[in-house]
Order: sequence, then C-alpha cells, then structure tokens
Amino acid sequence: MPQQQTSLTESIGRLYPHAKPILPRLARGLVCALGASLMALAIPQVLGALVNETLKVDGDGGAVWAAVAVVLVLGALEAVFIALRRQFVIRPATTVENQMRVSLYRHVQDMTVAFHDRWGSGQLLSRAMTDLNLIRRWLAFGMIMLVVVALTILIGITLMLITSWRLGLIFLVASVPIVLYGFRFRTHYRIVSRLSQDQTGDLATTVEESVHGIRVLKAFGRGRQALDSFTEQAEELRATEIRKARSLATVSLIVSMIPELALGLALVVGVLSVADGQLTIGALVSFFATAAVVAAPVESLGPLMAMTLTAKTAIDRHFEVMDETSSITEPEHPRPVKHLSGAVEFDNVHFKFPDTPAAGMDLLNGVGLTLKPGETMALVGITGSGKSTLLQLVARLHDVTGGSIRFDGTDLRQFSTSDIRSHVAVAFEDTTLFSSSVRDNVLLGAGEQGDEALAEALDVAQAHFAYELPDGVDTLIGEEGLSLSGGQRQRIALARAIAAKPKVLVLDDPLSALDVGTEELVTERLRQVLEGTTTLIVAHRSSTVALADRVAVLQHGAINAVGPHAQLLATNEHYRYIITSLDDEETAGQDPDEVLS
Ligand SMILES: Nc1ncnc2c1ncn2[C@@H]1O[C@H](COP(=O)(O)OP(=O)(O)O)[C@@H](O)[C@H]1O
Ligand SMILES: [Mg+2]
Repeated sequence: MPQQQTSLTESIGRLYPHAKPILPRLARGLVCALGASLMALAIPQVLGALVNETLKVDGDGGAVWAAVAVVLVLGALEAVFIALRRQFVIRPATTVENQMRVSLYRHVQDMTVAFHDRWGSGQLLSRAMTDLNLIRRWLAFGMIMLVVVALTILIGITLMLITSWRLGLIFLVASVPIVLYGFRFRTHYRIVSRLSQDQTGDLATTVEESVHGIRVLKAFGRGRQALDSFTEQAEELRATEIRKARSLATVSLIVSMIPELALGLALVVGVLSVADGQLTIGALVSFFATAAVVAAPVESLGPLMAMTLTAKTAIDRHFEVMDETSSITEPEHPRPVKHLSGAVEFDNVHFKFPDTPAAGMDLLNGVGLTLKPGETMALVGITGSGKSTLLQLVARLHDVTGGSIRFDGTDLRQFSTSDIRSHVAVAFEDTTLFSSSVRDNVLLGAGEQGDEALAEALDVAQAHFAYELPDGVDTLIGEEGLSLSGGQRQRIALARAIAAKPKVLVLDDPLSALDVGTEELVTERLRQVLEGTTTLIVAHRSSTVALADRVAVLQHGAINAVGPHAQLLATNEHYRYIITSLDDEETAGQDPDEVLS
C-alpha cells in the first residue's frame, strides 16, 4: 500500500472540497463555541469586581446584586451557546461522512481487478467505516474545539496578564515545557495511531478471510492455527493501543501537572502581593477564577491533539485509496456503439501481470485469433496457460500490455467500459453470487427484460431447481442466503451470462461442476442459444469442445492452432494430448513435457 508523508495541514487541507459546503455551519458552530468560552471567561472578571465591591466599607448593595445578576446571565448564555454549537455541527458532519463514503465506494467500484488483488478487503472496509467515522467526529467536535481551546487559553492568559502581569508570567513560563512536549507527542502519536489503524484493517482482512474460508478451515482442522494467528494479530493491535494510551497518558499528566504547580506558586506570590498592597483581593479572586476556567481547556489539549492526529491518519488512509488511479482509462471521446456484429479479433495480444518479474516471457505472448460474428470458439490449453486471463481481457478487466483486441474492427479501448460491459457477458470460474434472490442474481446484467428472460436463462442453464427452492426464484441465495451446491451455483452464473443477451459471450469452463447428464442437457440447449452470439468458451472436457464451431489451442502464450475439433485431433499433437488428458483425470492439467518424460 502506498504511504507518503504529508504534514498535518496538508492532510487536513485535502478535506476542504468535501467540507466546503458545510463550512458556514461549522463557522457558526465555532462562533457559538467561542461565545460559550468568552462567557465563561467573563464571569471571573465580574467576580473580581463583585468581591472588591463587597469589601468596600461604604459599598453599594445594589451593585452587588447587579453583579450577581450579570454572572447568572453570563452562565445562562454559556449554556445556550453550547447547545447551539451541537445543533450547528452534528448534521452537516454526518453529510460529509456519508458523501466521502459514497465517493470511496464509487472509486473502489471503478478500480481494476488488479487493484483489488493488491488491497486487502479489510483495509478497504476499515477505511470505509472506521476512518470516515473518525473524520466525522473530528469535523464536528475535535476541529472546532481545538480552535476554541487554543483561543480560550490565549485570551485567558492575556486576561491573567492584564489582571496581574507577575502572576500571569508564572503561567506563561509554565506553558513552555508543555508546548515543547507537545511537539514530541505529535511525532510519536502520529506513528502509533497510523500503526493502530493499519493493524485494525489487517485484522479485519483476517476475519473476513477466515469467515469466507470457514469450511476449508474446519475441514482441514485448521481452526486452531487460524485462531492462533488471529490472536497474535489481535495482541499486536492491543500492544499498539497500549502504546497509544501511554503516550496520551504522559502528555495528559504533563499538561495537568505543570499548571497545578504554577497555580501553587502563583497562590504564594499572589497572597504576598495582596499583603504588600500591590494587588486587590478582587483581582486575586478574578485571577484564580480565570485560571480555573483556563484549566479545563488546557487539560483537554492532549486528547484533542490526539484526536486531531488520529483524524489526520484517517484522512491520509482515505486519500491513499482515492489517489489510486485506475489503469483502465475511459476514452476521451468514446466510440458510440450502435450495432455490433459480434466479430472479435485478437491482434498480437500481449499481457503480463503487473507484479510479475520484468524479465521472462509475457503470459500472453502474441495471441492472434479471429472470431466471426456468431461463431462459437472453444479455447483449450493446459492449466496456467492463460485462458482465464485472456477471457478477462475481453471484458476489459485488465488492459492488454501489447497488441489489441478489436470488436468489429475497433479497439475495445475506444469504447466506454460501460458499453463494453453491456455487450459482453461473462461467467467466470469462481462463481460469485450476491446476497440477493435468484431472480436478481440472474437478471444482474439483463437490463429491462423481466420474467421471460429469467425463465429462458434458467431453462438453458438447466437451473430448474430454482423453482423448487423455498421461495422459488425469490429465494435469497449468496452469502446471507441459502447455500447452493457448486453445480447449482455454476448454473445460476451461466444463466446470468445468458440472460444478459450479449453480443459477445465469454464462458470460463461453465460446465465443469455439472454431472455428465446435466452437462449434455445444457450443451444441447446452449447450442441453440449461442447461435447468433459470438462465444469464446474455455473447455476442459471434450463434450464442451463439441459445442464449438472451431477450437483454438493456447500454448506458450500464443494460439498454436485453430480449426474444427476433428481436424485438430488428426493434425495437432498438443491438442491430442490435451483432449486425451482432459478426459483422463490422472494427468489432467499437467505439463505434457513432464508427463511424456
Ligand atoms: N491476478 C493475478 N496476478 C498475478 N498472476 C496471476 C493472476 N491471475 C493469474 N495469474 C497467473 O497467470 C497464469 C495464468 O493463469 P490463468 O489465466 O488463470 O490460467 P488458466 O485459466 O489457463 O488455467 C498463472 O500462472 C497464474 O498464476
Ligand atoms: Mg482458468
């Protein structure tokens, strides 16, 4: 994961575009918070006058009552300002949080498959939930309070200096070590808070993976090991949290202890000054009352700084995801798709996964193949030869690293990706079903068409079992719903590809989990449907190959032969090897050279 150093202000500055619409409300919240602080600071001033008035020999009783009334009003105003502040900031901050979450989700959706290979799901999850939550709380509370607290301390100390410069100076000097320690704290806390948030994300990934793989873990009796490694990760996170808490505790201790010491010293000096007649009792009272008002903001400095640093980390983590650019770019002027005949052409296609070593042969090393409109082409090759990868290129899940793939003579990179995806339907090897009804799963790419498309697709895929589920085609399947068998899942996925009624259909071994009888039925029906649809189908069994008009053999990153099944069988040794081994479980998928030697 990319991670770059940014300063606190740079990070916070990046929030500006999101926070801009709510800035007026935040400003109003800030004014209210400041108002509350000023009221609190004004009370000691009145108090000082009150004490001096009371002590006067010929004091005016009316003035005392007036001062009491003023204090009461100030106190009431303070409470009103605090309530208003809450009112102003809570809703707008949740709006920002929601907006940022939606834009993150949209961004993640736009990213390539390669991005998702790189980023753990837990990292994305914790960034979408926890980090944005932290940012919201900071916007609504931390940011405003930090400004208000700083201003309150500043005004408070100024008032204290005005009341008595000598006593005020004691506090000013005392603030020096606090500020110095504050810098150290910032550096340290920033590191541990980043660590803690990253570890939380990794932990989420672990939970996600083990929940997903629970069957495998159980079946292999690996529950214990999974628990151990989880415990270890959780321990690491706990240790980081303790470091975080220690760091905060130290700063809190310093921030509250030093002012206490200053207060003690000021008390001695203050009493002596009063005795000398250099200070009135009222001024002394007002000074300490102000010091008491300032004490609370000073104590909240530590937690507020911690909150700000955590928010900075959260902002950084958010923008790390947002800064990732998709390598699949939309063309500036997409070619409109009016009518596609369905001709697909692979012209000297090269492809290599980004994280594979630079040296060495490309995985796809000059694939050349032409599919005529409506043709069904089977793709065969040994395991790992790049068949699935080639199919993903057709849906533009990756971009070719050399050469081009053309639909009706136009490079597919000149179409908008949404156009491509509405004309190309896929069924991948690892069938993914969403937590939704059978109907929604099948009609995922089908657009407007309704029940008719559903019925036909389920019929072709021989997925009649769907009608017998507890709620028929409205039964919830996928992760949160009813579990289906591998063969059932595969047939739903096949139905989904068919229901989209695409011009180009790409099927990755769609019948592998079916029993022979069902496979025959599906093959029969597929043959009728595929007429008029250009189809590229990865085949692992000779019965699937029989579906195709022609067969292409992928070997060493290139198409080594193309032709009808019978012809290839007679003329191509590699093909003969694959076909015989495909139907012979023993040697299926092994490298022919290894088997022959
Ligand atoms: N996301 C990926 N990142 C890096 N390498 C990959 C990725 N997916 C597949 N590969 C590698 O590419 C090769 C071809 O894989 P694949 O296209 O799935 O082969 P096939 O479908 O013919 O069995 C394999 O060696 C595999 O390890
Ligand atoms: Mg494959």
